[in-house]
Amino acid sequence: MPAASLAAPSKQVFDVRPFDGQVGAEIVGLDLSYPLDDADFRRVHQAHLDYHVVVFRDQRITPEQQIAFSRRFGVLQIHVLKQFLLPGHPEILIVSNIVENGAPVGLGDAGKYWHSDLSYKALPSLGSMLHAQELPSEGGDTLFADMHRAWDTLPKHLQAAIEGRQAVHSYTARYSEGKDAANWRPTLTPEQLAQVVTVAHPVVRIHPENGRKALFVSEGFTTHIVGLPEDESRDLLAQLYAHSVQPDNLYRHVWQPHDMVFWDNRSLIHLATGCPNHLRRKLYRTTIQGDAPY
Ligand code: SIN
Repeated sequence: MPAASLAAPSKQVFDVRPFDGQVGAEIVGLDLSYPLDDADFRRVHQAHLDYHVVVFRDQRITPEQQIAFSRRFGVLQIHVLKQFLLPGHPEILIVSNIVENGAPVGLGDAGKYWHSDLSYKALPSLGSMLHAQELPSEGGDTLFADMHRAWDTLPKHLQAAIEGRQAVHSYTARYSEGKDAANWRPTLTPEQLAQVVTVAHPVVRIHPENGRKALFVSEGFTTHIVGLPEDESRDLLAQLYAHSVQPDNLYRHVWQPHDMVFWDNRSLIHLATGCPNHLRRKLYRTTIQGDAPY
């Protein structure tokens, strides 16, 4: 496998092939183990903006190469659950249901609820990359919902009800619901809790690069809409969630060995559909920092 610093032997030729439906494209013919030149980087960047999730098949890349590619898009964020960071590479969060010697090797229930990565931070994620290491023979798909389209198709009375409002996001909103026998959710230390204080963001944000509006709430991390009575906030959020994840607003990613998937957390929310516990699933996630939503 080539080292990250080697130049590609010749200019890489690749295609961007949109999937059927609203969201997603496959980038065919690009080997991410080589650094991208500026022109190729710009094409990948544009595809990411246009399709919100891009898929690179059969990428035989090392953690260092995943980190180097991710860094082209911005500063990497280190996940608060330090227990599940790849040793020697804290930029990588291990997403896995595997238990070894009685201890989980990664975050086993990552993505159990619809969410946008790190929306509970003042600077939520621009995008995330997930690289498949081990895949189950059954299940384990990831669903993505287009939050631009969710806004565009939202009934006018709901648009009016949320425009200009803020919602609170909390890492701990559903944290304890993830606790189970495997203890995927270790008790947070005071230092960890200090890293995840709640934050308010606009319910409707403007994507800083494509200029489009997007809903920015999710069942995973949003607790309530600021300034509304609790029952009204709950009811409104439930309507937004149901609207966002209608089937024609979704892309389902069925993983293939060594897939690298790169999505835009400003445009999409996502959900891990899960797989039978006895089947091993392990992926490496890098998370790129975005800007403050407005
Ligand atoms: C995640 O939400 O980061 C993980 C998604 C998945 O495992 O499919």
